[in-house]
Amino acid sequence: MSADTTSPERGQSFAPGATIGILGGGQLGRMTALAAARLGFRTHVFCPDHDSPAAQVTAVSTVAAYDDEEALAAFADDVDVVTFEFENIPDTTAEFLAAHKPTRPKPHILHIAQQRLREKDFLASIGVPVTRYQAVADVAALHGAVAAMGRPCILKSAQFGYDGKGQVRIAGDTDLREAWRRMGGTLGILEAEVDFALEASVIIARGIDGETALYPPVENRHRNHILDETIAPATLAPSTVASAEGIARQIAQELGLVGLLAVELFITRKGDVLVNELAPRPHNSGHWTVDACVTSQFEQFVRAVCGLPLGSTAPHSAAVMKNLIGDDVDRWRDVLADPGAKLHLYGKAEARPGRKMGHVTRLKPIS
Ligand SMILES: Nc1ncnc2c1ncn2[C@@H]1O[C@H](COP(=O)(O)OP(=O)(O)OP(=O)(O)O)[C@@H](O)[C@H]1O
Ligand SMILES: [Mg+2]
Repeated sequence: MSADTTSPERGQSFAPGATIGILGGGQLGRMTALAAARLGFRTHVFCPDHDSPAAQVTAVSTVAAYDDEEALAAFADDVDVVTFEFENIPDTTAEFLAAHKPTRPKPHILHIAQQRLREKDFLASIGVPVTRYQAVADVAALHGAVAAMGRPCILKSAQFGYDGKGQVRIAGDTDLREAWRRMGGTLGILEAEVDFALEASVIIARGIDGETALYPPVENRHRNHILDETIAPATLAPSTVASAEGIARQIAQELGLVGLLAVELFITRKGDVLVNELAPRPHNSGHWTVDACVTSQFEQFVRAVCGLPLGSTAPHSAAVMKNLIGDDVDRWRDVLADPGAKLHLYGKAEARPGRKMGHVTRLKPIS
């Protein structure tokens, strides 16, 4: 089966047997490839690293740089539809592929989501509440911005941050020159610190015909700026759930999303909902869906990207998902011995500190 290369995006759908091209080789790509295989799809993983978690579970993979046009052309030739498991793909790569094959989500969505200032500007432009923020281009600008914003606030690199990397909290006594250096000394965004009651996220899928399906909002607890635990579903007032879901629907529609979108949220003590950031792909806070929902986030992602009807997002259990970070993974034997635990490991050889090595999901009856 091969797609018509002259009409890259015409709402085409792809049946089992087609090949999904996945840019990126991390655990999100790995679990997507596994879900795709279960539905009878082939996957082809494109990743610059050897022995990536996703390449380990797919029959076909390409190890090449994201700007290697020869490798990208061969990849585009082999696949029917292209998607991404992370958003830090160069614009030129996404556009090159989109010119050859249907690429979902569209490159402009990656462009927005891969830069925090663009992302916040987009959210503000459609009236979605976000914390106060300001662009900062150098130390002098940082001094002015902190004076205007007030402390505490958070300085983040505008691009390439994940798991809290490139972020510095500016407290009463923080030296700004030092903060600028620790952030990476590149274009930054200064954000007012949100005194949140809890952090939550909503994952929404949107199909080629605009159909949407949402997973219930979950609570996310961080440790050392890395997601530690997801509690599903979150305990929230019905009105808070309704506004979180409304925001997710609005964003997905405004973006013209085809695929999956995770919306990270701050819930204030008054129950107000602010958007922290967006991820147009499967998300760590959706891993619980693999063991606890009729359709996992990864299967849903495959369905959306292939233009198939979306599946039921209904949970059959409540769940707590815990990440195994760095040496935590050494506990795998204990986890296996726990009858209530489901172990997921990502095939990463080296357990560096802060590295996500796997996760454990514990199910409990819905109360
Ligand atoms: N403005 C803010 N106010 C309060 N806490 C914040 C703020 N920005 C970030 N944080 C805290 O830092 C965490 C990581 O921030 P953010 O999501 O922006 O970065 P990230 O590096 O992309 O993280 P991840 O990859 O885990 O999503 C947030 O989940 C939250 O706990
Ligand atoms: Mg985040």
